[in-house]
Amino acid sequence: MQIRLQKFLSQAGIASRRASETLILDGRVTVNGITVKELGTKVNPESDIIEVDGKICNIKDDYIYILLYKPKGILTSVKDPFKRPTVIDLLKGIKEKVVPVGRLDKDTEGLLLLTNDGDLTYKITHPRFEVVKTYIARVEGTIDEKDIKALEKGIMLEDGLTSPAKVRIIKKFDKSTVIELKIHEGRKRQVRRMCDAIGHPIISLKRTQIGRLSLKGLKVGQWRYLNQEEMNYIKRLKGEGSD
Ligand code: URA
Repeated sequence: MQIRLQKFLSQAGIASRRASETLILDGRVTVNGITVKELGTKVNPESDIIEVDGKICNIKDDYIYILLYKPKGILTSVKDPFKRPTVIDLLKGIKEKVVPVGRLDKDTEGLLLLTNDGDLTYKITHPRFEVVKTYIARVEGTIDEKDIKALEKGIMLEDGLTSPAKVRIIKKFDKSTVIELKIHEGRKRQVRRMCDAIGHPIISLKRTQIGRLSLKGLKVGQWRYLNQEEMNYIKRLKGEGSD
C-alpha cells in the first residue's frame, strides 16, 4: 500500500506532518537513495527505503525476522506430536509466534529464517521470485563434469523436472566430493533427491544462504535478528512484484 511521504514520516515518529513537509522541501529526505522534494510523492512503507539525514526510518510493525543455525537432528516444525525437539525449542526468549520459512530436513543443518511475516514467507518460498538458496553437500563418490551438467540442466524427479541448478566442486576426496549447489526451488528433500538421481547420495548437507541472508556470526544452534543491511534486503524483496 502506498502512502504520502509526509504521512509516512509522521507515522514513523520523525516529525509532525507539517514539520515533515519542511524536511522534504529542505532536501533532507531520500527515497531509495534519491532526494525527494516533491510533497505529493507516494511511498510503499513495506518496500521503499526512506532516510532522513541519512538515517533509515521505519514504521513500527509487529514483524520479526530471525536467522537460526539449525543443527542436525532437530525438526523444522513448530510442534512435534512425538515431543521431539524442534527449531522453536532453540528460540529461547522469543515471545512472538514465528514459523519457519520453508524447511530443512531433520538431517540437514544450516540457515533457517523464521518470521511472523506471511508475505515474506511467500516471496522466499515461491519459485516465481527466484530467491536462490545455497547448499554445501558432501556426496558419495567423485563428481565429474557430466554430473554437474546433469544437475545444471535439470533432473527429472517424480514430481517433475527441477529448474537448472548452479553447481561447483569445492573439493574432491578419495571417496567423496564436496559441492556447492544453488537452487531457487524448495521441494521436499530436493537436493538429496537430485544427488540420488545422479548416483551420488548425500553424506551431509548444509544450507549456507537464503538469497543474501547468511550464517554470518552464528554458531550451530545459535540465532540472531537480522542486521540493518539484511532488513533492507528483506524490504526490497517484499517490494518486488508489488505495485
Ligand atoms: N534439500 C534437501 O534435500 N534437504 C533439505 O533439507 C533442503 C534442501
